[in-house]
Amino acid sequence: MSQDIDFDRYDRIRPIRWTGDALELLDQRKLPFEVDYVRCADSDEVAAAIHALTVRGAPAIGISAAWGVVLATRDVQADSGAQALPLLEPAMQRLNAARPTAVNLAWALARMRRVLASAGADWREVLAREAQAISDEDLAANRHMGALGAALIAPGSGVMTHCNTGSLATAGFGTALGVIRAGVAQGRIGKVYAGETRPWLQGARLTSWELQQDGIAPTLVADAAAAHLMKTGAVQWVVVGADRICANGDTANKIGTYQLAISARHHGAKFMVVAPSSTVDMDTPSGEAIEIEERDPGEMFAIGGVRTAAHDIVAWNPVFDVTPHELIDAIVTEKGVIERPDAAAMRAAFGG
Ligand code: MRU
Repeated sequence: MSQDIDFDRYDRIRPIRWTGDALELLDQRKLPFEVDYVRCADSDEVAAAIHALTVRGAPAIGISAAWGVVLATRDVQADSGAQALPLLEPAMQRLNAARPTAVNLAWALARMRRVLASAGADWREVLAREAQAISDEDLAANRHMGALGAALIAPGSGVMTHCNTGSLATAGFGTALGVIRAGVAQGRIGKVYAGETRPWLQGARLTSWELQQDGIAPTLVADAAAAHLMKTGAVQWVVVGADRICANGDTANKIGTYQLAISARHHGAKFMVVAPSSTVDMDTPSGEAIEIEERDPGEMFAIGGVRTAAHDIVAWNPVFDVTPHELIDAIVTEKGVIERPDAAAMRAAFGG
């Protein structure tokens, strides 16, 4: 159970800090070499920070957007939530447009709109309470999912993860990385492999750094080494997060996840997706309907500001892919574990 885990040891990083009059975001572009918080004083600064990957990871951008709405209230005079709603809408649209694939962003904004619609004269306080609730619920969900997911892993297993799904990507503890933290704490996981996750290197820069803070030493592998690693039998579970889980269980996550799922199935390793129910999108029937964010190809031409690619070339930079549900052995949310997910199993768990 989650009570077995020493959260003081395994949950120390906080990427999002609300000061009461500004939002401070741990600048994830500078990690692991610099720990620096960026101060956002208005909602457009939050939207820009989300777009620039200062803050990233599906739950973390949802939480940041919710605080962005709270900042936007400063520019609005209204006597009730219903009056404030249309006045806040342009700022909410700009926040929503910051990144398209992670559904947590739209989900958090929908929650803010919902409470605002029925709020009275204290609508500003209502919004601030809702933003805090979104953050608190995410942390609680992660801690619970850690226990649920770890219980699926046999003692002494090797696990591989991708991107960063830890405290940095959430309110704290993490999704897939929460399962890995819980699994290590319980002695179920003997070895952790982290894929480096090009082009932004979330695995090399962020996951490795996060796990080091806990005293967990991951082994970094090039993304291209994953199939070769699995062939050695070193990986029993691939454990990843999600940016959007569709009504049939198809899952969008960081580019490179799909090839890990194919490789896992080929080599007899299991594939686990860990995400809070805020990442589940029952309105999107299957992965084909997900908008996949494509970022500036220039992100692929340099590492840390040093050009690595030939000049005058063309590049394609989709930053997410979709893993079909047939390749997923378990989806873990705070509501429980869905084994071999499909449309019927998803409906049974989430309705709709
Ligand atoms: O582009 P990023 O770094 O925001 O992508 C993040 C991921 O794909 C994560 O795996 C996902 O958001 C889950 S985070 C708990």
